[in-house]
Formats: sequence, structure tokens, C-alpha cells
Amino acid sequence: MTDERPKRTVEYSQVENLHVIRHEDLNGTGRLYGGRLLSWIDETAATCAQRHTGLEITTASIDNLTFKRGAYVNDIVVLVARVTYVGKTSCEVRVDSYVEDNEGYRHVINHAYLTYVAITREGRAIPIPYGLELTKENEKMEWEGAILRRENRKNRTSQGF
Ligand SMILES: CC(C)(COP(=O)(O)OP(=O)(O)OC[C@H]1O[C@@H](n2cnc3c(N)ncnc32)[C@H](O)[C@@H]1OP(=O)(O)O)[C@@H](O)C(=O)NCCC(=O)NCCS
Repeated sequence: MTDERPKRTVEYSQVENLHVIRHEDLNGTGRLYGGRLLSWIDETAATCAQRHTGLEITTASIDNLTFKRGAYVNDIVVLVARVTYVGKTSCEVRVDSYVEDNEGYRHVINHAYLTYVAITREGRAIPIPYGLELTKENEKMEWEGAILRRENRKNRTSQGF
């Protein structure tokens, strides 16, 4: 089915956020709390989804949350969010989180996929007015992956998760 909506590019809504890890962000073992990173991921991804849709949005699901390595006090955490898929009322955002070292090299600490739904003030799902213009090969691959992830989510929901 062709998407008749006007399209916005992935670059249009891309968001990059930066946090320096403070003592209050650490758990008992001196590493960044997973929950703190998750709140930064949700904040960055939600800004991205809001830019793409131009609407109020709410978090419907967070998945594929893989912690690859720890992060420590004074580390610089960089979060990059990009829209990967746009459905009728929902969109998927991928967030890559890195620790940036003194040379400017970025080391991956987490990948996550989040789904947002555009809503009215009353919280009812509404259509997103913009499709996604895919200009690069990796954007097309992310779109294909998002279709599979969407199916997996539906299966999980039907299994009661
Ligand atoms: C997200 C929410 C608005 C969806 O409402 P709903 O009545 O289930 O909506 P629908 O069944 O019409 O689905 C709407 C869209 O959401 C998607 N969706 C619904 N549940 C989902 C889930 N668990 N994961 C991913 N996408 C989901 C559907 O696939 C559909 O997408 P599409 O239009 O692009 O095909 C509703 O479940 C809600 O308000 N949840 C609470 C959100 C919240 O409070 N978030 C903050 C957490 S602290």
C-alpha cells in the first residue's frame, strides 16, 4: 500500500543529547543506573518522535534494550535518536547510546527501540500526518527490521505480555 502522506526525512527529526555522569546517577557498584539511562533514552526518543509527528505523543513500548558495557562517573554519554518506521498512528525510534572518550571516539553502551503513539489531549490515538522518506540504505534496512519487530510485539501482546 502506498503512503500518500507528505514525508519527512530521518535527518529532520534526528536528536542528539549529551549527559555527564554524576555521582547521583550511579548504583551501588559505581556504574550508571540502568534506569537513569532508560529515562535519558525515553526523553531523547520522545523529542525525536514529537519532531517527526508535530503532535503530542506517548510511549507505547520499549524493547530490544541491550546493555553492552558499563559507564562511570564523569563519562560523557551521547544519545542519538532516529525515526526508523512510521505507521498510521505510531512510530518507532531507535536510540544509540555511547560513551565518548577524550579523543572523541564513541563506544556503544546501548541500543534501544521505542514505539510512540500520537494522541489527542484526551489520550486517543490519532493519525500521524507525515510518512518517512528513506534516503539511505541503512534507513531502508531499519524500516524492514521495524516491520519484523512490529510483528513480534503484536505476537507478544496476543500471548499476554
Ligand atoms: C499507547 C496507547 C495510546 C495505544 O492505544 P490503543 O487504544 O491500544 O490504540 P490502538 O490499538 O488503536 O493502536 C494504536 C497504535 O499503537 C500501536 N500500539 C498499541 N499498543 C502498542 C504496544 N504495546 N507496542 C507498540 N505499539 C503499540 C498500534 O500498533 C497502533 O499503531 P499503528 O496505528 O501505527 O498501526 C494506549 O495503550 C496508552 O495510552 N497506553 C499508555 C501510554 C503511557 O501512559 N505511556 C507512558 C508510560 S509511563
